Amino acid sequence: MKNEIDIRYFVKILLVMLFVEIIATGIAAADTGKQYTSSVQCKGCHEQIYNEWSASMHSQALSDPIFQGALSQQKDKTICISCHAPITRLNGDFNMTEDITKEAISCDFCHTISGLNESNHMQPFILDPGETKYGQYADSASVTHKSKDLDLLGKSEFCQACHDLAFPNGLVVLSTYAEWKDSDYARDGIVCQDCHMKTTKRSIASGAGERSDSRRHDWKGGHFMEMLQTAGKLEVITRTEGKKVFVTAVISNDGAGHKFPTGADTKLILEIAATDKNGNRIFENKTQFSKVFGDANGNAVPVPDLATQILSDNRIQPKGRSTNEFSFDASGYDGDIKITGALLYRLTPEEVIPPVKIFEENKTVRLTEGKTGAKSIPGFMVAAAVAGMIAAYLSRWRKK
Ligand code: HEC
Ligand code: HEC
Ligand code: HEC
Ligand code: HEC
Ligand code: HEC
Repeated sequence: MKNEIDIRYFVKILLVMLFVEIIATGIAAADTGKQYTSSVQCKGCHEQIYNEWSASMHSQALSDPIFQGALSQQKDKTICISCHAPITRLNGDFNMTEDITKEAISCDFCHTISGLNESNHMQPFILDPGETKYGQYADSASVTHKSKDLDLLGKSEFCQACHDLAFPNGLVVLSTYAEWKDSDYARDGIVCQDCHMKTTKRSIASGAGERSDSRRHDWKGGHFMEMLQTAGKLEVITRTEGKKVFVTAVISNDGAGHKFPTGADTKLILEIAATDKNGNRIFENKTQFSKVFGDANGNAVPVPDLATQILSDNRIQPKGRSTNEFSFDASGYDGDIKITGALLYRLTPEEVIPPVKIFEENKTVRLTEGKTGAKSIPGFMVAAAVAGMIAAYLSRWRKK
């Protein structure tokens, strides 16, 4: 048994080494001596777009302290940097000494991609830095650079190259594109850009005329409350039978074009709590909606780096909903019971940033004197039945 684990570990290391080598080969093949232009130069004429990009997570993908924290714990940082600071795919500056590398996902990186390498998952982009800037218009003209219309930029497949990620051991870490592809949004032709780069009427460069379908470059996602609140809603329904209280909490994903939440280690937390008029806590429950990563032995692990498989995934499907039933016995209490349902979003481990509350709903139920069947059953039996129901419920979703 011990041996088996050692061998698996060894194989994993080999796979990681192979992965790095493929990236390195990809870079060597792409390195044609061409260079990227700094975003600051684009700002000269595309100031509004520059300001949006500056405030976005794409310009901060490298400086982001949460990324830096995670990166510092990696032995081999190459894989991570090739996506969070993708200019390294061309200049190989993995020690990040050049200023251009620190621009993370820069204007020129995206606008000089000329196509996709369908067969090479390690180097998915065809990189063509130079004087031609690929965009969405066939009729645009500038004195400083050539322009070319490229359909790919308006498609979800352009985002896929970075927003789907599998480790060399096959573990699917990010699957935002795949989740979208499997949804009604993909079938209806609603792409990532439609929700994350909303169109607006404006002049796209100083001195140029207005266009009706310029794309905002803000890419708002999990770091923005306004975005989280359009993703879905929480509904809390209550009812009583004598001293027994039933709570149904429905979470729906009406607005996210992928699972809610998407990402690697993002979680939703549903908190249900009941208190009596004196503030005594009668009931509480926390349910998590996330991918649960596991090691080869099927034990849950906290981060994808330690994982080889996904043990369960109960995140809310696009246009889907999750109905959660709770019940508890309030014998020994009377009067009004306050029931609070809250939905929290956890981007990253609690120690780093506390989860943020997206929704909260309060309900009050009045306990009636027990004339129902529940009252005639001794209290401990009700408690046992409720515990049984919760246990059955938990084991059901854990298996999913
Ligand atoms: C001297 C001004 C100037 C500078 C500097 C500049 N651009 Fe432009 N750019 C323009 C103008 C003008 C247009 C055309 C606007 C229009 O047609 O509405 C344009 C159009 C574009 C387009 C649209 C192309 C299309 O076909 O849809 C892209 C993409 C673009 N620029 C990217 C960049 C990037 C990236 C940089 C920095 C590396 C940059 N530009 C620097 C003036 C500039
Ligand atoms: C993550 C990739 C990405 C980055 C980074 C990026 N863009 Fe874009 N850009 C796009 C996409 C996608 C479109 C829309 C293409 C479409 O709808 O077909 C676009 C459109 C444009 C256009 C055409 C006009 C418009 O508003 O749609 C210009 C000009 C432009 N970008 C300039 C810039 C500049 C300047 C920067 C840096 C400050 C930048 N872009 C950063 C992906 C990017
Ligand atoms: C070169 C790789 C790359 C490309 C191409 C790319 N992204 Fe990203 N994107 C990232 C990385 C890395 C992050 C995470 C940054 C962080 O939080 O540190 C990110 C973050 C995001 C976020 C989250 C923002 C938040 O508030 O949490 C959204 C939304 C997003 N990208 C949308 C898109 C869309 C839409 C496209 C296609 C038009 C796209 N991205 C193309 C790498 C990329
Ligand atoms: C119908 C609108 C819609 C579409 C289509 C859509 N998204 Fe989102 N996206 C959202 C909303 C709303 C959120 C905020 C809720 C959340 O985090 O899931 C979000 C969040 C995100 C985040 C934040 C990360 C996280 O962990 O939650 C990323 C990254 C992202 N989207 C990328 C994409 C990419 C890439 C595509 C295309 C493959 C896409 N989105 C398609 C609406 C959309
Ligand atoms: C294929 C591209 C890709 C690679 C490779 C990659 N990431 Fe990311 N990373 C992303 C994207 C895209 C996001 C945004 C995910 C989301 O929120 O949906 C992200 C988000 C993150 C976040 C969350 C940042 C925040 O502010 O919430 C951390 C931390 C992170 N990555 C660390 C790493 C580390 C460490 C590695 C190397 C082991 C790595 N990443 C490799 C694309 C990548």
